[in-house]
Amino acid sequence: MPQPTHTHRRVFVTRPVADAALRRLAETARVDLWDDDAPPPHDELVLHLRECDAVLSMVSDRFDASTIAAAPRLVVISNLAVGVDNIDLDAARGAGVAVGHTPGVLSETTADLAFALLLAAARRVAESDRFVRAGRWRMWTPRLMLGHDVWGATLGVIGWGAIGQAVGRRAAGFGMRVLYAARPEAGGAGSGGFAAEANPPLPAQARRRAAGPALTGVPDALGAPRAERVEFARLLAESDFISLNVPLTPATRHLIGVREFAAMKRGAILVNTARGAVVDQAALVESLRAGHLGGAGLDVAETEPIAMDDPLLKLPNVVITPHIGSASHATRNRMAELAVDNILDVFAGRLPRHCANPAVKLRDARSKARAARKARRK
Ligand code: DGY
Repeated sequence: MPQPTHTHRRVFVTRPVADAALRRLAETARVDLWDDDAPPPHDELVLHLRECDAVLSMVSDRFDASTIAAAPRLVVISNLAVGVDNIDLDAARGAGVAVGHTPGVLSETTADLAFALLLAAARRVAESDRFVRAGRWRMWTPRLMLGHDVWGATLGVIGWGAIGQAVGRRAAGFGMRVLYAARPEAGGAGSGGFAAEANPPLPAQARRRAAGPALTGVPDALGAPRAERVEFARLLAESDFISLNVPLTPATRHLIGVREFAAMKRGAILVNTARGAVVDQAALVESLRAGHLGGAGLDVAETEPIAMDDPLLKLPNVVITPHIGSASHATRNRMAELAVDNILDVFAGRLPRHCANPAVKLRDARSKARAARKARRK
């Protein structure tokens, strides 16, 4: 990639992302690309950040307070994700580092995967595939691989932001009743503290813009879903399928645990395309083993990648994918473009257009580095 000579700006890109977006970034800054799909080890990340003004990062790169403090020039962390739970937002704000993220452009794609997992868990798709490949398909029999109807069932969506609503819209095509509960605020679901206006969806026009050109002109696909807002407890008690669509925050960590599983309908199916730690995984395994929960469709795990000896992998009624919610060609391209936009915004002296810590006071990289040098001399 040709590198500009007219700029001091340097950006560390922690994984290969869409070429077109990288080329656009390289028109303005020197791009230091970690050219490997495996993440840079943490000490390498810290080393590269020392010299960089910006980083284009992934959910699997951790930015804790000490990492941020060790990056004297850093003015923006631009995460290729909507979630920012890998970043200490307060530390970033304190250090004058803006945090950009990529909401909107991935909502429909993530909802597609949530629905794929829901269908797969309900109709035992992965299990049936393993059955056929193992040479066990001998004949048609009336009791083979019986599953659960999706059509006409009740779907409960926890977290009614853009992704939750997109999941709700898909349910309409299956004649499902849709219930939803907003995401909890600090204090957690147990405290009854639910957000009044949870993770608001983008207005229709912005939604179409975010979805990109491929979806413009198909406004119906993006219309508001028909759904009933209910209390968290009622959603747990009445849903045949529960989809988790909340960000991971202190309030949502282990939102679904022993008590919540017990409160679910016997045979309910849980779908998690949010973050693994929203669910107490040990409690999930217990509920599945006890036969209370009917199945699970998971795109995320408490620890990623999941250990090969994790008990979840022994359970036939669990369908699991490797955190690929937003992994379509078009969506990953859009995410990369938006992540670059967020960096260029900061280089132009503005907050990123999608900023996760809008209270940050932007400083320029050189004055930040000067201040850091001065502080070290004291
Ligand atoms: C997100 O956007 O937060 C996903 O988990 C990564 O695609």
